[in-house]
Amino acid sequence: MSIATLARPEIQALQAYEAAEQVDDTVRLNANESPIVSAVDHFRRPLNRYPEVRPQKLQHALAARFYCSPDQLLVTRGSSEAIDLLVRTFCRAGEDSVVTTSPSFSMYRHYAEIQGANFIAVATQASENFAIDIDAVLATCDESTRLIFICSPNNPTGTTLPRDELEKLLQRRGDKSAVVVDEAYVEFADVPSVVELLDEYPNLLVLRTLSKALGFAGARCGAVIGPPAVIQLLSAVQAPYALATPVVECVEDALQDEQLALAERAVARIIEERKRLMREISAFDFVKKIWPSDANFFLIEVGDAAKVLQRCQEHRVLLRHFGGDLANCIRITVGSVDDNNQLLEALESLRGSKPCL
Ligand SMILES: Cc1ncc(COP(=O)(O)O)c(C=O)c1O
Repeated sequence: MSIATLARPEIQALQAYEAAEQVDDTVRLNANESPIVSAVDHFRRPLNRYPEVRPQKLQHALAARFYCSPDQLLVTRGSSEAIDLLVRTFCRAGEDSVVTTSPSFSMYRHYAEIQGANFIAVATQASENFAIDIDAVLATCDESTRLIFICSPNNPTGTTLPRDELEKLLQRRGDKSAVVVDEAYVEFADVPSVVELLDEYPNLLVLRTLSKALGFAGARCGAVIGPPAVIQLLSAVQAPYALATPVVECVEDALQDEQLALAERAVARIIEERKRLMREISAFDFVKKIWPSDANFFLIEVGDAAKVLQRCQEHRVLLRHFGGDLANCIRITVGSVDDNNQLLEALESLRGSKPCL
């Protein structure tokens, strides 16, 4: 059975929006567009025309980059939109549930709450390097569990779920839940994408983004990858013309070989900087713990997070604090060499300061 049958019945019955036909070299009087091209319009597809309902060329380019077929991929406004589409497509308010782990990316909860879906987060332990206990995740699932989000590498802990553990989850949930692996940071890890498991597991969906390794957070472009029947449902839910022409053209350019080679070198530099920053930060007496990370950030524990954050802010460096179980933890994004040196200077000024940090 396809996991498309787990979708909300009204979404399974939904007809895709019928947009005005777009045919090259025709006079288009069918979409109430303006005939006037603005003087500031420098795009290949003029802005007086609507973009394609779904950007075909970009879809093919992203499918080639992520090693899947175009019908297995929907281009989304960042992977955040993909999370929203998944929850809206699969979860009936007050009935269906989303399961994930904690701490993890807050958008899973955010969109579950907007949709009125039940949200359950299985805690992971700092003392176990935030490793996901798949048996605990499985024990939490029941017949209402439509979506299981696994963030790997996980934000904010940097932890990657081992492949055999993911396969155990996929096998044990079978066609009862969609397992969504969020690979926003996978390029910074020394593991291949789990996209290569798609043919084997029809309940697997993968999220990718251009916001991190490719450095295109401002363009808002990502993708959800999975069985074509699910992609069709998600596409029916997504707004028509979701990807604006400037975004489509800029991302098409970013996916040229030369640009990709530059991005790959930038990722290698960030990984080197991650090692250096972790090594240097571990030498500060007020740093109690640094967790290993497969992402472009890492988590540290200090005695007094508020004091560290304040001193960094005084040095014009912003870090991320979450509170709750991570009250004395700080997430540090790896920046450029200069950014990282500015952070180290700020931390240096705290060295040996009292009371104990
Ligand atoms: C784990 C994870 N998934 C998804 C996203 C969303 O990224 P975007 O919407 O920019 O693709 C983020 C952003 O920080 C993230 O950390």
